[in-house]
Amino acid sequence: MSKIVVLGGAGAQGLFSIEALLQRDVFDEIVVASRNLERTQEVLNEKFNSSKLKAAQVDVLNKDSLMNLIKDADVVANCTGPYYTLAEPIIDTVIEAGKDYVDFCDDIAAHEKIFTPEREKLAKEKGIRLIVGLGSSPGTLPLTVLYASTLMDEVDDVTFYLAISDREPEGPAVLHHTMENFIGGVPVIKDGKRAVERDFEGEVYYDFGEPFGVLPISSIGHPETFSLPRVLPNIKNLSIKLGLYPIEIQRTLKILTKTGLTSTEPIEVNGQTIIPRDVTLTSLEKITPRTELFENEHPEPLSSSAIEIRGKKDGNEILFKTLGYGNMGPATGYPLAVGAEMLAQGKIEKIGLMVPEECIDPLPFIAEVGKRVHEAEYETTSNTEIITYVK
Ligand SMILES: NC(=O)c1ccc[n+]([C@@H]2O[C@H](COP(=O)([O-])OP(=O)(O)OC[C@H]3O[C@@H](n4cnc5c(N)ncnc54)[C@H](OP(=O)(O)O)[C@@H]3O)[C@@H](O)[C@H]2O)c1
Repeated sequence: MSKIVVLGGAGAQGLFSIEALLQRDVFDEIVVASRNLERTQEVLNEKFNSSKLKAAQVDVLNKDSLMNLIKDADVVANCTGPYYTLAEPIIDTVIEAGKDYVDFCDDIAAHEKIFTPEREKLAKEKGIRLIVGLGSSPGTLPLTVLYASTLMDEVDDVTFYLAISDREPEGPAVLHHTMENFIGGVPVIKDGKRAVERDFEGEVYYDFGEPFGVLPISSIGHPETFSLPRVLPNIKNLSIKLGLYPIEIQRTLKILTKTGLTSTEPIEVNGQTIIPRDVTLTSLEKITPRTELFENEHPEPLSSSAIEIRGKKDGNEILFKTLGYGNMGPATGYPLAVGAEMLAQGKIEKIGLMVPEECIDPLPFIAEVGKRVHEAEYETTSNTEIITYVK
């Protein structure tokens, strides 16, 4: 029996990790921490009825306070956000404390800051395991690519297609994440090299089938561009494309960007210097629920993801194609919980600072996550085709 500290566990996605952790008895103490103790306690009381749960107060940017909170934990799970500001300092404290760690960090900038040779060396010397990016994207989706790669001699092109409805529960962290990664140059892999696409460059239409249908989608900066080449270094083309539902959201974001309202470049307004993105984010955060902005029939389930993986097998072209529906919360929170349990049970053999693709066997992991999501009676579907073009 052991103890886990879940930072940001009462956030919109973190709550699903808590729900999944409560499905099993791997942890007998689950400490859920954030800056606002009262709100955390209230949310936990409202959603769960478990003596295993304890609320705690911490500002993760206060190193001493975080150190004190995690000192007797077996595993630290990080569901806070935005990751591009919070992940690096948290990981440094966790390494110093010598704890196993997992998060669902989906900011590529955070990945690039975190994975330095010094930290990777330090984590190995300490004999600890830190898994960065174990949600859905990143998380189970790039793990699916890793599985598909075992059916091929080489993987050439990988495209992720994501559709997310505005009805998905999301906190301010997701809003910041979307803005940060959609706008300001999007990293992709083109012809075997890292390249940057301009905002909304190469918008395409993708048919997600019912209930979303055809949506315009554009590239978003996501950690798969960083994580997958660590295990599949010969991928030639890789991008992650996102469509927001209803279509008006994508269009509005595009217009805001064209008018400079998502820019982080300071501008002068009536003698005051302001950052346009700060104004936009502050205004959007005040609209709750944001779903009231657009009237629309909302689909169920609320998210869809597809992956197309092209490669070669015995000289023939091969296409591995998968399309599924589900909800973002369980798809994000459940993998982190299963990963945390594996850490506590000593089921992650490799040590060091790692992306999931480096330390998790994809098929049993995806199967376990699927089992747990179904156990909680969430609606999901998934359909996979493997097509071989014989020469
Ligand atoms: N990998 C994936 O598949 C995936 C999918 C979806 C989302 N995500 C990522 O998940 C993250 C969380 O999203 P969300 O919708 O759950 O956001 P959220 O509702 O805003 O949750 C963030 C949580 O972090 C806490 N927090 C923020 N700053 C803190 C600080 N300085 N110290 C302590 N706690 C702090 C917040 O509580 P207080 O305000 O009380 O401190 C809250 O509990 C986002 O960064 C998002 O990009 C990943």
